Amino acid sequence: MAADRSPDPPRPVADLDWSPKRARAFGERTLDLWERFLTELPSLPVAGAWTADEVARAVARPVPEEPMPDDELFAYLRDVAFDWSMYPGHPRFMAYITGTGTVPGAAADLLASGLNMNLGGWRLSPSGTEIELLLLRWFAEQFGLPSSAGGLLTSGGAMANFVALKTARDHRAGWDIRAKGVLAGPPLALYASEEVHVTTDREADMLGLGAEAVRKIPVDGDFRMRVDDLERAIGRDRAAGLRPFAVVATAGTVATGAVDPLPAIADLCARESLWLHVDGAYGGPAVLADDLRPLFVGIERADSIAFDPHKWMYTPHSGGCVLMRDARHLSESFAAQAGYVHEDKERTGHGPDLGMMGPQFSRGFQALKVWVSLLAHGRRAYARRISHDAELARYMAEQVRARRELELVAPVTLSICCFRYVPDDLAAGTPGRDEYLDELNERLMTAIQLDGRAYCSNAILHGRFVLRACIVNFRTEAADCDATLDVATELGEKLDAELRPDRLRAGA
Ligand SMILES: Cc1ncc(COP(=O)(O)O)c(C=O)c1O
Repeated sequence: MAADRSPDPPRPVADLDWSPKRARAFGERTLDLWERFLTELPSLPVAGAWTADEVARAVARPVPEEPMPDDELFAYLRDVAFDWSMYPGHPRFMAYITGTGTVPGAAADLLASGLNMNLGGWRLSPSGTEIELLLLRWFAEQFGLPSSAGGLLTSGGAMANFVALKTARDHRAGWDIRAKGVLAGPPLALYASEEVHVTTDREADMLGLGAEAVRKIPVDGDFRMRVDDLERAIGRDRAAGLRPFAVVATAGTVATGAVDPLPAIADLCARESLWLHVDGAYGGPAVLADDLRPLFVGIERADSIAFDPHKWMYTPHSGGCVLMRDARHLSESFAAQAGYVHEDKERTGHGPDLGMMGPQFSRGFQALKVWVSLLAHGRRAYARRISHDAELARYMAEQVRARRELELVAPVTLSICCFRYVPDDLAAGTPGRDEYLDELNERLMTAIQLDGRAYCSNAILHGRFVLRACIVNFRTEAADCDATLDVATELGEKLDAELRPDRLRAGA
């Protein structure tokens, strides 16, 4: 009888397991591309005038059965980087609120990916979790929150606001809403200004409240929430049987950078027992700048704060942050027991699992790029540069005022300058003037974005379409602001010459 033979052990499959030498060679070629990008960035167009079809065709490759040779792969990456990308870190990119991307942050991202810790669990990320926790404590101190505070890094501001509002809902609803759902109590309502970021509606929707649960409060002439209207709206809702639970104050609105009157809103929240959430996704990091910090007085009274390192702390995408006055509220709102994740924390001495404090279970090491950027640059560099961005926005506003064809349309509070092109010879009172200016400026924004020399976006203010430059960019300087206004003036004049004869035949 043949003796029992155990099967041969499986042979190694090492295709994916590159040697350190191979890893380095691959990494160095990536570094070469990055260095070239940093060298050439100021002379590259900010963006190209491509259609989606053109880009889709250019970047498409069949997934090969066998490895693509390095030369071919890096030629492809070079084309992606230099022919088919646009650059939010370009000195003349001033659109939306999209930060520059710190250099040490990008390098840290490579290391974070290389280590590949999972910051959902402490034991899967001992140094990672502790770095995220100490980063959060540092941020909480910058906002003046007490030692009970804590938080979480998120994908961005939308998710940070969502986490905060979910926590507010669960904590203030007045019944076990996590278990019983929203129908087990009266309809909930929350309050924000008309200038609040659009994702607040989506967050209310995601929370099962419906977007109409967000009551939009009118703003004053400086685009700040009117607290008297807020108080009246809360009273009306209570009388109608709704349960108000939170106010979202914005510290740096997306359109103009306005900061809501935080002390008065905090007083009202205290009187009405409402959760105060401050959306500082854009403006929050300005607390680091001595000259801007006074605008944020009252933020230290918030129950929660959202802000985005990937906006005005310039770290690479993506990374937002939510802070809680009392860190325990996060676990109360997000804890879930997974039987297969057993751990005796007493015996191991391990720390908290961040995957139990927010919507994500597995989490990446986003904290490293933020932390390494802070270590490499130091706090003062941030304070100086944030302050400088705001100074540049004020400078730009002065330049707008000095140009006959440009009109400043909102005060500059932080680092946003809103303006529009108004042809010098288009008299006030001309019939159809406002509609014509809307169309002209809408066409102008598109023309600027396609032109490639500069890049700005728009805002709708008092129902009118205006151009908007937002500087959260450590490469932007005064000459870039001038150049952007030059491009706006040049293209505005050209478009006006094309459009006006047709559009304002009667009135011009
Ligand atoms: C005030 C405000 N809140 C929230 C957001 C959404 O942030 P994110 O794009 O990081 O999700 C933005 C984005 O510009 C914003 O300006």
